[in-house]
Amino acid sequence: MPSPQTITLAFTGASGMPYGLRLLECLLAAGRRVFLLYSPAAQIVAKQECDLALPAQPREAARLLADRYRAAGDQLVVFGREDWLAPVASGSNPADAMAVCPCTMGTLAAIAHGLADNLIERAADVMLKERRPLVLVPRETPLSAIHLANMLTLAEAGAVILPPAPGFYARPQAVADLVDFVVARVLDQLRVPHELGPRWGAERIAGTRPPGSAA
Ligand SMILES: Cc1cc2nc3c(=O)[nH]c(=O)nc-3n(C[C@H](O)[C@H](O)[C@H](O)COP(=O)(O)O)c2cc1C
Repeated sequence: MPSPQTITLAFTGASGMPYGLRLLECLLAAGRRVFLLYSPAAQIVAKQECDLALPAQPREAARLLADRYRAAGDQLVVFGREDWLAPVASGSNPADAMAVCPCTMGTLAAIAHGLADNLIERAADVMLKERRPLVLVPRETPLSAIHLANMLTLAEAGAVILPPAPGFYARPQAVADLVDFVVARVLDQLRVPHELGPRWGAERIAGTRPPGSAA
């Protein structure tokens, strides 16, 4: 898959809004166009976890977030949850890739069962039917058999299930390091270049040339 230019990002009302906001920041910093969608429950979680009041009006939200992350012109577009005229609602004009971060068990279940009852669920449904990358960052603990079955259904349908489970081998010093660990894995799945943290084993080959390169 080539590096995608337009990415749909959905925030739903699971704990983990710092992951979603940092992902948005990194996608914009990497020059990607972002179509942002969020649920009413995500607005509650954003306030609770990040002290961020996500406006109900998409235009107002786009202005606020573009200012916050210094996005260029129309780099960030926010769509309302029932905006069926949005490009992401149709397989004729899907984004190159989509992430739902954080993803609730409710939205995960709805996507697994093809409900497409709001724009987030529909956009994800479109990604699956069009065989485009869909990355879900589900957050719940412990997981019930229903949650696990839905995740298996989605993995079999082509989605990437990427739980926010940071590793500790890079010796994180702050919460921001843990957040970046997870966001880095999402960016890797989306094929968006980044420099969030060291890569395992990189120092072992530092200074060596790849096989076949000129001397
Ligand atoms: C502060 C807060 C934290 C929540 N954390 C989770 C969570 O981690 N996982 C989850 O599946 N639901 C969580 N919920 C419940 C969902 O927000 C709720 O099921 C909601 O209906 C999901 O709607 P959505 O998928 O449209 O965002 C949380 C709710 C609140 C207010």
